[in-house]
Amino acid sequence: MEDVTDVAFRLLCKSYGADLMYTEFVSSDALVRNIEKSKRKLIVLDEERPVGIQIYGKHPDAMADAARIAEESNPEIIDLNFGCPVKKIAKKGAGAGLLLDIPKMIEITEAVVKAVKTPVTAKTRLGWDDNSKIIVDVAERLQDAGVAALTIHGRTRAQMYQGEADWTLIGEVKNNSRMYIPIIGNGDISSPEKAKKYLDRYGVDALMIGRPSIGRPWIFREIKHYLESGELLPIPTLEEHVNMIRNQLVQTVDWIGDERRGILHMRRHMAVSFKGLPNFRPLKIKMLRSESVEDLHKIFDTIIETYGDI
Ligand SMILES: Cc1cc2nc3c(=O)[nH]c(=O)nc-3n(C[C@H](O)[C@H](O)[C@H](O)COP(=O)(O)O)c2cc1C
Repeated sequence: MEDVTDVAFRLLCKSYGADLMYTEFVSSDALVRNIEKSKRKLIVLDEERPVGIQIYGKHPDAMADAARIAEESNPEIIDLNFGCPVKKIAKKGAGAGLLLDIPKMIEITEAVVKAVKTPVTAKTRLGWDDNSKIIVDVAERLQDAGVAALTIHGRTRAQMYQGEADWTLIGEVKNNSRMYIPIIGNGDISSPEKAKKYLDRYGVDALMIGRPSIGRPWIFREIKHYLESGELLPIPTLEEHVNMIRNQLVQTVDWIGDERRGILHMRRHMAVSFKGLPNFRPLKIKMLRSESVEDLHKIFDTIIETYGDI
C-alpha cells in the first residue's frame, strides 16, 4: 500500500506473522528514469523476505525495463498492479485503467514475464464497473500470459474503496476448472472469524490483508492462531501496543531519515491506534499534532501511566 508498506511497517507485519508482503507500488516510468525516490522503494531487507515488488504503468516496454530493474533487488515476486483506482493513474490507462484495455494488460504481462526470471504475479479488481465484471475471463487470460498467481480485490474500479467487497466472483475464479494458479482473495478481511469464513466459503489459496493491518498489524497473528486453534487471542496488552508503536516510530524515522517526515508518515498508523481507550481524544489529538519523537515518547509514557491498569 502506497505510503504504508515501507520497510518499517513490513518488518512489523512480519514480526506478527505475515507470510508474504509487498512493497508500495512503484512507477515503472520513474524507475526507467532513475528517480531516486522510486528506486528507494525497491530496497528489500533479508529479514522481511519473502517480499514482492509491485510495479505499475501502461507501457509494456517500460514495465519490462522496470521489472528488470526491480529484479536487481532479488524480490521473491514481481507483482503487476492492474487495480489502482486513483484517477491520476487509472484515467491515464495504468492500474485499474487497464481493465478497460485487456489486450494491453496482457501485452504488459507477457512483456514482463519474458523480461525476468522472477515469478510474476498480478493484482486486479472485478472489472471497471458494475456493467463490466470481467474478472473470470481476465483471470484466464492472465494465467495464459504467464502469471504465477493472481490477487483479486473484490471491488470494481468504480467502487474505489466503497461498499462491501464482493467475494462471489473471486470464488468463481477459484472454482473455474481452467484455473490452476494460486488465487489470493482481498478485500475487507477485518477479523479472524471473517478470514476463516471466507477461506472456507471461497476456497482461495491465500488472503491478502491491507487496511485492516494499519494500526492492527497483529491481525496476522490473530488470524493464524484462530485458523490453527479455533480460538481468539486476546488483544495485545497496552504495554505491547505502546512498545510496538515506539519501535515503529523509531524505525520509520530512521528509514525515512527525517524526523518530521517520519512522524507525518506515522500519523496514519497512530490515528487508528489505541481505539477503545476511554476519554482518549485529548491525548490522541496531542499525539497526532506532535512534531518531535521526544514529545511522542512522553505521550506514550502518559498513555501507559493513564491507562496501564485497565
Ligand atoms: C492507502 C492505500 C494505499 C494502497 N496502495 C496500494 C498499492 O500500492 N498497490 C496495491 O495493489 N493496492 C493498494 N491499495 C489497495 C489495497 O492493497 C487493497 O487492495 C484494498 O485496500 C482492499 O483490501 P483491504 O480491505 O484489505 O484493505 C491501497 C489501499 C490503501 C487504502
